[in-house]
Amino acid sequence: MYSEKVLDHFTNPRNVGEIPDADGVGEVGNARCGDIMKMYLKIDGDTITDVKFKTFGCGAAIATSSIATEMIKGKTIEEAMEVTNKAVMEALDGLPPVKVHCSLLAEEAIHAALWDYAEKHGIKIEGLDKPKADINDEE
Ligand code: FES
Repeated sequence: MYSEKVLDHFTNPRNVGEIPDADGVGEVGNARCGDIMKMYLKIDGDTITDVKFKTFGCGAAIATSSIATEMIKGKTIEEAMEVTNKAVMEALDGLPPVKVHCSLLAEEAIHAALWDYAEKHGIKIEGLDKPKADINDEE
């Protein structure tokens, strides 16, 4: 029921950890299951030069955060904004329907970290709204 890619990223997650001097940090939680994801970004100019994450959550949440970090590393802020939960799921060759909500955490954590970066630097990122700390996908 899980794709090879999900299992790979779950058992061998990429970019796990913290960036002590991160330029942007975002933390989001899923109100339904209580899982939490924290994303750290290092940004130079317009480019995300490094990214790390910590996820206290289910296997699908760990796999989606892992692949999401790979999808935004070395990319511009604009490109990172295009990494939606749909894009993350496609990159993982899909998730079981009951686990789709887990992929929302990755998208929201990236947005929260970008928001933090934008606030600290007094800039506005096109298309980015203030993220909610808690995601309630049942709303
Ligand atoms: Fe909570 Fe997957 S069950 S994020």
